[in-house]
Amino acid sequence: MSALLELRDVHARYGAVKVLHGVSLSVREGEVVALLGANGAGKTTTLRTISGMVKRSGEILLAGRRIASSPEGVARAGVAHVPEGRGTFAELSVRDNLRLGAYAAGRNGGFTRAYAYFPWLEERAAQQAGTLSGGEQQMLALARALMSHPRLLLLDEPSLGLAPRVVRELFQIVRRLNEEEGLAVLVVEQNASLALDVATRAYVLETGRVALEGSSDELRANDDVRRSYLGY
Ligand SMILES: Nc1ncnc2c1ncn2[C@@H]1O[C@H](COP(=O)(O)OP(=O)(O)OP(=O)(O)O)[C@@H](O)[C@H]1O
Ligand SMILES: [Mg+2]
Repeated sequence: MSALLELRDVHARYGAVKVLHGVSLSVREGEVVALLGANGAGKTTTLRTISGMVKRSGEILLAGRRIASSPEGVARAGVAHVPEGRGTFAELSVRDNLRLGAYAAGRNGGFTRAYAYFPWLEERAAQQAGTLSGGEQQMLALARALMSHPRLLLLDEPSLGLAPRVVRELFQIVRRLNEEEGLAVLVVEQNASLALDVATRAYVLETGRVALEGSSDELRANDDVRRSYLGY
């Protein structure tokens, strides 16, 4: 399988503070890849850099072509980003949040697909997003990302603050999107055991560098990964 997303020696900084020091990684077509690492390692920054929200050097390729370094350009190229903290608009209705997801990528429609994966959202279409439960808001954020018909989904800590049952449900939907539609996913997740279950490969970031990479099985069997991220 060829690389859908490829980062080559990517450096990124916030003002004078360098955060990524030469990150290289790839996600193949139809693949789910996990990005693990301690707090502050640069996981969110990596996703934000891919999305064109952080100044960077180095190359980022999507299906072999350099992607623009603006959020609009990246969205139009087929990358949808579900940020840490979800990024839904609390004052807007569920329907308008979904509509914005399509609009961001210069598309319209997509409701049928979003509702196929999240049928309850259709009944709640008029509800103000801010009044949804935390789990429902995370589902809305994912549904909103689907509205743009992405080729690649960037997911930042989807399990944050959610009950285990909701987290399982959410990851089941991610797995279905991958298996049924071939959607490629790069997922950042504190819950490493969960991430390694859904992903086939993973990268471990340490202070802005890739410290380890391998198949999920290889990383599960790695003593450092077990001690630091799996807790046994
Ligand atoms: N807007 C910003 N301005 C300055 N520094 C920032 C900014 N955002 C992040 N950083 C710094 O960049 C480093 C990496 O942060 P990042 O959010 O990418 O880490 P992370 O791996 O996602 O951590 P966490 O697991 O806690 O979410 C941290 O030292 C952080 O303080
Ligand atoms: Mg983060």
